[in-house]
Amino acid sequence: TKGGYSHFMLKEIMDQPESIYNSMRGRLVFDEGIAKLGGLQGFEDRILNSRRILISACGTSWHAGLVGEYMLEQFAEIPVEVDYASEFRYRNPIVTKDDTVIFISQSGETADTLAALKEAKKKGALCLGICNVVGSSIARESHAGVYIHAGPEIGVASTKAFTSQLVVLSLITLLLARRKSMSLEEGREVITELQSLPEKVEKILKQNSLIEELAEKYLLAKNFLYLGRGYNFPVALEGALKMKEISYIHAEGYPAAEMKHGPIALIDYDMPVIFIATKDFVYDKVVSNIQEVKARKGRIIAIVNEDDTQIEKMVNHVIRVPKTHSILTPILTVIPLQLLAYHVAVKKGLNVDQPRNLAKSVTVE
Ligand code: F6R
Repeated sequence: TKGGYSHFMLKEIMDQPESIYNSMRGRLVFDEGIAKLGGLQGFEDRILNSRRILISACGTSWHAGLVGEYMLEQFAEIPVEVDYASEFRYRNPIVTKDDTVIFISQSGETADTLAALKEAKKKGALCLGICNVVGSSIARESHAGVYIHAGPEIGVASTKAFTSQLVVLSLITLLLARRKSMSLEEGREVITELQSLPEKVEKILKQNSLIEELAEKYLLAKNFLYLGRGYNFPVALEGALKMKEISYIHAEGYPAAEMKHGPIALIDYDMPVIFIATKDFVYDKVVSNIQEVKARKGRIIAIVNEDDTQIEKMVNHVIRVPKTHSILTPILTVIPLQLLAYHVAVKKGLNVDQPRNLAKSVTVE
């Protein structure tokens, strides 16, 4: 049921403190600063010794894969490539028994992802599944894997599955990274930050009415541009996807620095720009990108950290999120963007839970 909410999507967004907790429950070992993932037991060495890790998925799950790439390369120190499942399977990908391929799928039934899995398996790679639906085809076909335990996701637009996929990817990263150069201290820090996520998500959700007011202001926009760098680049893509699929407003996500290579030509008063600008190693760069948009009269909504004082002076609106470990940032920054897309769609009178032309699980190729 919708638990008193007007739509499944809103319920699922609001569920996230709990669904995020469920994805990590029983999987954290603070003393050792590691994650314990029963579904990967016995496969750890093979993953660690892989020549590279490939991640294959579609849609929102592909965005989670992009975040996974940043996490795994930075901390597990293994080369990672992320591929659309539909491209992977028709490209004759060079995959061997020395590779690990991770398939991410909420439903576990997406036809393109399943076909890519069969292909990679045929080529001898170690195939891991990150699925939500227990006993689904992708979960059954893969050699090993981790369930995200987000609970049933009914709204067609994926929300809580995305944040849970990111939790599980961070757990896999922790597991591998602690066998590489991540210190016990940093491992414990990641765990402490994971444990405080539900509370931090709760704080973001409390800004629901502020985000609803913003939705009212930008309802008539024909286009939105979403910009972020580093860990927030995939969040820009995901924010834009949420907006297009349920509100039918054209939206594009870009790495903020790519703006000057083309999309900057689009910027004017009628093109709201959403920056995801939390304090991390690319913060100063993002601030200069914000200046470039401002100079062209673009209206800006920025997702910033709670203690940020610099950006609010430069933009039209800020939405504040708590600080966390860099690899967990997207779990927080995506939430305001889910709410924004939701409120825009509701205000436009659209069928939020079942947008036109879309199905919850895409079982055709
Ligand atoms: C976006 C959305 C889709 C799915 C995609 C993959 O909100 O729901 O883009 O993410 O169809 O689905 P799964 O994860 O079930 O393989």
